[in-house]
Amino acid sequence: MPNNRLFAGLDYLKALKKHYPLLLKNHPNLFGFVGNWLANEKEVGNDQEPAERFVRPENHTFNSLFNAWSFSIRGSIRWLGASCTYKGLINLKPPFDLVLYSNLIWELQPKTIIEFGSLQGGSSLWFADQQQTLCGGGTVHSFDILNECIHPRAKHPNLHFHEVDLEDLSSLDKKALKSLPHPWLVVDDAHCNLKKLVPYMSSMMKPGDYYIIEDVYVDAPLKVTSDAVALMNKCKLIVDKKYTDAFGTNVTCSPNAWLVKR
Ligand SMILES: C[S@@+](CC[C@H](N)C(=O)[O-])C[C@H]1O[C@@H](n2cnc3c(N)ncnc32)[C@H](O)[C@@H]1O
Repeated sequence: MPNNRLFAGLDYLKALKKHYPLLLKNHPNLFGFVGNWLANEKEVGNDQEPAERFVRPENHTFNSLFNAWSFSIRGSIRWLGASCTYKGLINLKPPFDLVLYSNLIWELQPKTIIEFGSLQGGSSLWFADQQQTLCGGGTVHSFDILNECIHPRAKHPNLHFHEVDLEDLSSLDKKALKSLPHPWLVVDDAHCNLKKLVPYMSSMMKPGDYYIIEDVYVDAPLKVTSDAVALMNKCKLIVDKKYTDAFGTNVTCSPNAWLVKR
């Protein structure tokens, strides 16, 4: 990864030590979390070690420290306009996942974001804005069966909606998909036909592309998780723990399912 995209947290610690040594010495408790980081500098943001970071799905749990949705939908639905929206449109992602996606988009620099499940187009618009801000451009293609529900305000020059039935993969335009530039970030939030859709997409993915499977493995029963492992292995998708575990094990709506193509 180019140096200007690496985590720069250590630069803050270096600046503190260089410019404020007396403050650090005289007020060691002043810095809260930063004090812990200073004491464990080797660990701070050290996410580039592949052996630590990327694991086969059977070597990482589907269980979560806590269910990301349980925090996100705990508030009153009266305040949905503050908790589940973007620019006034429905955006159904736990706050944890918004942070994770933002950081992955920065790190991956996807040229193409493919979203399955547009709902109102709020998340699609959020992805398009994030990609524009963090990557300087690119394209978002969002697919849904109920395109009449996409709001007229879900508009962005780089955002394209497509009406498809994901139960019928022939409704996808494979030639058009194949022509989309990589890296890809595939966000699967339609919760349907995974056994066919994931292999279909992964056959077109290149090493380093990401496939995120939202929601279906939250509280997944054992049978489903063993099927999921088989599916992920068949598609050569491995788990990126940097994203599944950033807030604690699987504190995300995509437990064990921030997947990178090998
Ligand atoms: C959970 S919602 C998507 C939420 C949205 N991504 C967000 O974050 O706000 C799931 C979406 O999948 C769509 N969907 C369900 N079955 C589908 C199918 N067979 N083909 C295409 N889309 C489908 C639904 O219409 C719905 O908009």
